Amino acid sequence: MSVRDVAALAGVSVGTVSNALNRPHVLAAETLERVHDAIARLGFVRNESARQLRAGSSTTLGLVVLDVTNPFFTDVARGVEDAANDAGLAVILCNSDERADKEANYLNVLEQQRVQGILITPVDVIGERIVQLRERGMPIVLLDRIAAGGDQCSVSVDDVHGGELALNHLLEMGHRRIAYVGGPYTLRQVQDRFTGAQGAVDRWTRAKAHLVPVTVSGLNTDAGVRAGAEMFGGSSRPTAVFCANDLLALGVLQEAVRHGLRVPQDVAIVGYDDIQFAASASHPLSSVRQPRQLLGRTAAQLLIAERADPDHQHQQVIFEPELVVRQSSDHRRPAGRAKAARP
Ligand code: RIB
Repeated sequence: MSVRDVAALAGVSVGTVSNALNRPHVLAAETLERVHDAIARLGFVRNESARQLRAGSSTTLGLVVLDVTNPFFTDVARGVEDAANDAGLAVILCNSDERADKEANYLNVLEQQRVQGILITPVDVIGERIVQLRERGMPIVLLDRIAAGGDQCSVSVDDVHGGELALNHLLEMGHRRIAYVGGPYTLRQVQDRFTGAQGAVDRWTRAKAHLVPVTVSGLNTDAGVRAGAEMFGGSSRPTAVFCANDLLALGVLQEAVRHGLRVPQDVAIVGYDDIQFAASASHPLSSVRQPRQLLGRTAAQLLIAERADPDHQHQQVIFEPELVVRQSSDHRRPAGRAKAARP
């Protein structure tokens, strides 16, 4: 079926059918209904590839995330989709798996698909492929990463402050030997949260405190379980654990319970993101909340604005994190008990 068949059946011109598909607001309701009835009766489906060739771009946005199984990114993607749909655009979701080669491949695919623009949480530094695409006129907004210079839009959260919030809370609760479970440190988010946590410990003057890095290879629950086995199986167990994200924290929590530790009395745990599962965990998880859907919605709106206005002024939007205290860390240690008691 072609546009001509639809036009013939509806008794209108080919241009009117094109308007019905692309600019329905310019047509009278009765004409629009006649065209859509003809489309339905013929089972016509527009050829998006042909339209893209004619228009030079698609009606889609690209979104490249680090780990599509991480609820943080699905919440971000929901915000992106809401804003994209408001603008009549669809979203192509790509999962880089924290791998630079997969990221580069998806950027090629999105360029070939003539997307209107790309939202990306980069795997590590801003690769040359991102620079090259922007030089070719592709709008790109960094998501969950601040743009180094003022010449690119970005939407992120102040992760250094987020690390400070988590550690100040644990220090206030009387913890002095606190583990930081995170990695790889090539991820800016992991590094910034550590920097904030270490800064809080350095500025703590009421007593000597230590932040003990426990490095993991990925920000997922299995890595949290392995980190928990390393921390809780040894002799000098920390009394508190701050994790770079909630998936790690849920793995650490699982391992603490398996080792017969009371949470938070024997070990307090704080995560990061405040994903939906944090509150519903076996021991409701304290977490540093990120405004996930707002991050996604704001980034998509910036991208759409940049696409629409050649004189667009780039913005680096930074949201503030918020500490949510729940059962997993809500316990003040008796003064003077710096070391962890054996269970
Ligand atoms: O991608 C890993 C982490 O970085 C996510 O859990 C979220 O915290 C993001 O900022």
